[in-house]
Amino acid sequence: MAVKKVLKMGHKDLWACAVEVKNPFDDTLKLLIQDLIETMLDSDGVGLAAPQIGVLKRVVVFGVDKCERYPDVEPIPRTVLINPVISAIGDAMEEDWEGCLSVPGMRGRVSRYKTIKYTGYDETGDEISRIVEGFHARVVQHEVDHLDGIIYPLRITDLHNFGFSQDGFPEE
Ligand code: NI
Repeated sequence: MAVKKVLKMGHKDLWACAVEVKNPFDDTLKLLIQDLIETMLDSDGVGLAAPQIGVLKRVVVFGVDKCERYPDVEPIPRTVLINPVISAIGDAMEEDWEGCLSVPGMRGRVSRYKTIKYTGYDETGDEISRIVEGFHARVVQHEVDHLDGIIYPLRITDLHNFGFSQDGFPEE
């Protein structure tokens, strides 16, 4: 169990498609999950996907209690999600700013489904099925994108809405 190095955009593993986990009870998976949680907490992140620490398996972790990086948003329960599947509920999209531990210091505006259902398995092998919206839905869509080799800058449609966090940017 250790804090791992988070790969940065440009590393080939971040463009790869991660493979499904065959056995959610596997002991090696427990270590991976501990590493993901420790690394996420150490980096003060809201979520982390296994490919970001160089493990091409379909596992993500996310959650935030009181949010310093995003002070206006609802807390998200700490969740481990194995083999996640997302489906959109309705067509409504919402644009908002995102950041990523693999793209440090930068922010970009990304359109996501407002409401989604997500399913998967937790760290004990129990099924998770939730309908969520807003920031929670955004975080899950961002993390699951990592499993398909998609980093959020690929989803920015106007690159004026992408830049280094600094005085005056992003304007909110
Ligand atoms: Ni990310």
